[in-house]
Amino acid sequence: MVANVARLKAGILISGRGSNMQALIEACRAPRFPAEIALVLSNEAAAAGLARAREAGIATRVLDHRGFGKDRAAFERALTAALEEAGVEFVCLAGFMRLLTDTFVDRWRDRLINIHPSLLPAFRGLDTHRRALEAGVRLHGCTVHFVRAAMDDGPIIVQAAVPVLADDDEARLAARVLAAEHRCYPLALRLAAEGRLAVENERCRVAGAPAPEAALINPPPA
Ligand code: GRF
Repeated sequence: MVANVARLKAGILISGRGSNMQALIEACRAPRFPAEIALVLSNEAAAAGLARAREAGIATRVLDHRGFGKDRAAFERALTAALEEAGVEFVCLAGFMRLLTDTFVDRWRDRLINIHPSLLPAFRGLDTHRRALEAGVRLHGCTVHFVRAAMDDGPIIVQAAVPVLADDDEARLAARVLAAEHRCYPLALRLAAEGRLAVENERCRVAGAPAPEAALINPPPA
C-alpha cells in the first residue's frame, strides 16, 4: 500500500463564472496532485462558479460583502473564519472581485495567490485585453502571483505568453489567454503544494524548474 501523503488544503475565492476554479478542481482530481480543494467561497450568491463547484462535490459558502455594509474588516474576518473552519491552508483568488486589505493579505501572506489576465506588471486592473489591443503589443498573457496589498502586485510565480494576432478582437484574445490561465493556475498551485516556491526580496524562486525551450516571436521569423 502507498502511504497517503497529506495534501495541501486549498480554498478558492470566486465572484463569477469560475472557469479557473474549475481548472483547479480538475487538477486536484488527479490522485497524485499534491493539493485538494477544501472550500469554494463566493461573495456573490449568483456566481455561476458555485453551481460548478457543487456539481463537482466541493463544499461551498457564500459571504455577501453587502451584508457587512462598509465594514471591510468584518467581511474579511468572516472570510478568514470560513476558510479556517474548512481547514484551508492556502488561498487561490480566481476572479474574486473584491480588493483585500493589508490585514487579510498579512494573515495569508505567501499563502494567497491570484491569477491576472496580463503579463504583469503590464496592464494591471480591468479590461486588460482591450488595453493590450489598443497598445498594439505582439505578446499578451497571464500571470499567477502572490498577493500583496497593492492591486495586481506581488511576487510572480508563473507567466504564460500568447501571441496577439492581426484579426483579434477582445473576445478572441481573451479566449486564448484564458486557455493559458487554465494551464498556469494548476501549475502554480502544484508548485506551492510541493513546497517549491520561496519568496526572497519580493521575488519568487521556483525550485527544480527546467528552462523553457524557445522564445515566442510574433510575427515569427520566416
Ligand atoms: C480571469 O480572466 C482571471 O484572470 C481574472 O478574472 C477572470 C476570472 O475568470 N482574475 P473565471 O471566473 O476564472 O472564469
